[in-house]
Parts: sequence; structure tokens; C-alpha cells
Amino acid sequence: MYTQGLDQKDKHAASGQAIAESAEQLAAFQERIDAEEKIEAKDWMPEAYRRTLIRQISQHAHSEIIGMQPEGNWLTRAPSLKRKVILLAKIQDEAGHGLYLYAAAETLGVSRDQMVGDLLSGKAKYSSIFNYPTLTWADIGAIGWLVDGAAIMNQIPLCRCSFGPYARAMVRVCKEESFHQRQGFDILVTLSRGNDAQKAMMQDAFDRWWWPSLMMFGPSDTDSKHSAQSMAWKIKRISNDELRQKFVDATVPQAEFLGLKVPDEDLRLNAKTGHYEFGEIDWQEFLDVIAGNGPCNKQRLAKRQKAHADGAWVREAAQAYASKQAARAAA
Ligand SMILES: [Fe+2]
Ligand SMILES: [Fe+2]
Repeated sequence: MYTQGLDQKDKHAASGQAIAESAEQLAAFQERIDAEEKIEAKDWMPEAYRRTLIRQISQHAHSEIIGMQPEGNWLTRAPSLKRKVILLAKIQDEAGHGLYLYAAAETLGVSRDQMVGDLLSGKAKYSSIFNYPTLTWADIGAIGWLVDGAAIMNQIPLCRCSFGPYARAMVRVCKEESFHQRQGFDILVTLSRGNDAQKAMMQDAFDRWWWPSLMMFGPSDTDSKHSAQSMAWKIKRISNDELRQKFVDATVPQAEFLGLKVPDEDLRLNAKTGHYEFGEIDWQEFLDVIAGNGPCNKQRLAKRQKAHADGAWVREAAQAYASKQAARAAA
């Protein structure tokens, strides 16, 4: 029902008609935000706030779902039964994260079908990081350590996001992400105690994942088009560049512990600030991957489309069962 309402508003917006939101309503809303009150699904909110959250939460959900693919690639080749079980649990967690997040976005009036449709058609975005290939087992370690590690940096502040359902979903997600990060680091600790070939495999994985991980924090603050408004609405609490710096500061000592060399000639610790300074990120690469031209974009989408088509019978069966139950309850 609400989706239709949204469509109607989108039409108004497209035709240049403003949605009636009075200055008083907007001021009262901002006051609630400033007072650190949580905004709940049925509360009044500006249309732009609703749309920003739908975009952000659904992109986040899509990232969790697509993010299962690069790791799923190694399930059958994990080096031991224990590693296989751990990886399986981790990937299942990601599916769970996707489902919590779709549910949180649905409270804003967008339907699951619409969100999934936008992902499958290529209209919706997901995190650029999942368009890189997992070439060796060390990549699974690097993903857990760096990608889940970067996700934690991004997501911890979201536990304090002004939108209640998103903030609450993030609390559990972050707990699970910290397990993911440690499982990745544990894989690499094991490899760091291995032979020369294993150490070289780990360095190669690190070389390939380091820069894309830094890109996960998004464009630099000066180029980030949504940042200022999201900060004012307390959807976002810490800027992209600040989060990226925190990640670098936390991760470089861990790389040293593993005996890894950071693939950045410009990296150095600034003794005065206590922060690591690092080289220029290749933003063109980031934009290319976002635009659909990363190494695995087409493969990821094709696999998701096939999985969705293959799962049609499950959705039909679940729906048939639900209607039977409903009919029985009504009788
Ligand atoms: Fe996740
Ligand atoms: Fe994760």
C-alpha cells in the first residue's frame, strides 16, 4: 500500500510539484533529532529522510547478500572441516544481515519485491568491494580481516543512527561482524606461521584487498554528495575520511604483526598526530567499479539473478503454505 503512496510522491517530485512539508514540521523533526530521540517507522518524517534511508538501508542489504558470493566461492575448497564450518556460519550470518536490513527498509514503506527487483535489474547499488575476485584461500582471510573490519568501522556509529529500526538491527549485526573480523585475522595468523609460499599468498591477497578496503568508506568528505545532510539528520555520525583514518590506524599495526608490507610507499606514521598518513586512493577505479565495470560485477549480478529464478518454487511454496494457514485460521 505504502509503496503506491511513494510512487505517487515520486511522480509529484518528477513533475516539479513540491511535497507539502511545512517549515514547522521540518523544524519539529530536526528538534527531535537534535534531542537524540529515535525516529520510528510510523512517526512523521521528511520525504527526503525517508528516501535517504530507503536508499542506504537497501544498498546495505544488497551488499550483505551479494557479499556472500566471493566467500561462497571457497566453501568447497576450505582447507579443513573446521574452516569450512566457520566459513559457512559466517556466510549464513551475512544472509541474516541482509534479511534484517530488508525488514528495516520495509518499515519505511518500500516493498521487498521492489528492492530485490532493483538489485536484479542492476538499478540498485551495492558495496563496490564485492566486485573483486577471491583468487586464493588467503583472500578469505583478507576479506574477514579487512572487509568485515571496515564494515565494523562503518557500522558501529550506525548503532546510534536516528532511525530506530536501522540502529537496532545494527547492534546485532556489529556483534556478528566482530566474529567475522576475527575469523579472517585467525586465517591470516595461521598463514603467517606457514611456509614461504603461504606467506607470499597472504601478501598477494593483502596487496589486492588493501586499496579496495579503503574505498569502502566512500568518497572523500569534500566529494561526498549525501554526507552533510545525513550528518545533520544523525543517520551518519562520523565522516568518511575520519572513519577511513580510524581504519588505517587500527589496521597497519595488525599488518605488521602478521609480517605484511602495506602496499603504499607513502604510508608513514606522523609522530605528532599519532595517525598514519597514506597515499592517494585511485578514485577512478572506485568510480569504474561503481559504474558496473569492476572485475566481477557482471558475474555477481548474473549469479544473483539465477539464484532468484531458481528459488521461485520456494517462494511459491511458502506463499501457498501461508495462505493455507490463513484460510484455516479464518475458518
Ligand atoms: Fe554482514
Ligand atoms: Fe560480515
